[in-house]
Amino acid sequence: MTATFDDADLSFDDDSDVVRAPTNDVAATREHDPINLSADAFWDEDATAWERSFAVLRRERPVSWQPRLETQVIPDEDDPGYFAVTRHADIVEVSQRNDVFVSGYGVMLDLLPPMFIEMGMSFLSMDDPRHDVLRKLVSAAFTPKQIKRIEDDIAARAKRIVTEAAGKPEIDFVHDIARHLPVEMFCDMFGIPPEHHDAIEHAADEITAFADPELLAGRDAADVQLMGSLAIHDIAEVLCAERRENPKNDLITSLVQATVDGEHLTDYEIGSFMTLLSVAATDTTRHTLTFGVKALTDFPEQRAWLWEDFEGRIGTSIEEFLRWGSVVLTFRRTCVEPYTLNGTEILPGDKVVMMYISGNRDEEVFTSPGTFDLQRSPNPHVVFGGGGSHFCLGNQLAKSMLRSLFREIHLQMPDIVAGEAKLLRTNFLRGALEMPFTTNVEEVHGDR
Ligand code: HEM
Repeated sequence: MTATFDDADLSFDDDSDVVRAPTNDVAATREHDPINLSADAFWDEDATAWERSFAVLRRERPVSWQPRLETQVIPDEDDPGYFAVTRHADIVEVSQRNDVFVSGYGVMLDLLPPMFIEMGMSFLSMDDPRHDVLRKLVSAAFTPKQIKRIEDDIAARAKRIVTEAAGKPEIDFVHDIARHLPVEMFCDMFGIPPEHHDAIEHAADEITAFADPELLAGRDAADVQLMGSLAIHDIAEVLCAERRENPKNDLITSLVQATVDGEHLTDYEIGSFMTLLSVAATDTTRHTLTFGVKALTDFPEQRAWLWEDFEGRIGTSIEEFLRWGSVVLTFRRTCVEPYTLNGTEILPGDKVVMMYISGNRDEEVFTSPGTFDLQRSPNPHVVFGGGGSHFCLGNQLAKSMLRSLFREIHLQMPDIVAGEAKLLRTNFLRGALEMPFTTNVEEVHGDR
């Protein structure tokens, strides 16, 4: 089924398998770029190989027309493809023109089932004014002032996690260190009690596993995403009922008490919030930390520089850890009015995918972008998006968690040696599933 833009509204069509952007007649006639970013072989490679293709595209064809993904969660032969945006300046432009490039048709490179988008993406996949209203319901919990207030708590948890891991004879960095703090913090802020933490974490992992055949192990990718969201919705339903009876000082209580246009949110809407936040808050920070620790092993002179004056240098370093990791690879928009982007004409209905990792290696913005340089300043990366109304709500929380964890690694495990990470197969979230790790555990430095 293909709609024209004029017939379309931003509501979901329950009869279709995917949320399909309305298309235009021109899309099917465009020639695909010879560098195919949609081939399975492309996403099978790692970031170094991706960068070889992105570098050519940035230089020669910064807004390139790409075919649909070779393997889609739900195969869709009517999908004409998408524009890939590889330059930093163009990513910023698309991010900030929320009036032209909208999110309501979905924001993933892959077209996902409408039910998953409703159940799992909440305001990430909406446009203003609804997006703005829902985002504001939770944004007070993530302001710099509020994050400052909980910094001691973040630091204490980071210390406990690293201390516990340091006592183990063998450490897998992802399992023993990186995964714990983001999930603890998110669950605590939301008001999810510890008995549900593992289930939340598992569901979030399942939701991001959709492009990894090994993790899917023969299961259907769409089913796995839906089951993951369902598991989180079940927990949300129980907690919403509890908080209506016994309000507490947490986000679930704020959400059950909130009204929008005079109406309370439904459990379903709150479940969707919780699903969005559990993926957004947990996996992203975990993977950034893991790639950061790997970089400290690979570039010992950078580690030595940071260790020399940790407190004075960690602020600048965090920005480079974020840029280096570039863990969110892609987000999509759909064009709703004719627009010329860096000389390329984009029409209503065209899908436009921002390749954030390419923007973060753009030589027009970063000197020696392939160098891990903790002293890099300024460092205007697009790791949290390029500005605009969807800019990452959790960026301050993420930075605070990273700062505390790196601090504890510096204090308790200064001689870390990270092995080769086993990578998630992905076109969305660059991640490490495992990473062996050894350390000469030393006395905790300083007066603590
Ligand atoms: C290193 C860690 C993180 C990275 C790399 C990251 C990255 C991103 C990116 C790229 C976006 C989309 C921006 C856009 O479309 O313009 C985003 C949105 C979002 N992030 Fe993060 N994020 C991280 C951590 C977090 C944390 C800890 C939270 C906790 C709440 C969070 C919550 C969100 C939410 C709710 C949105 C949707 C905002 C909206 O649609 O208005 N993120 N993030």
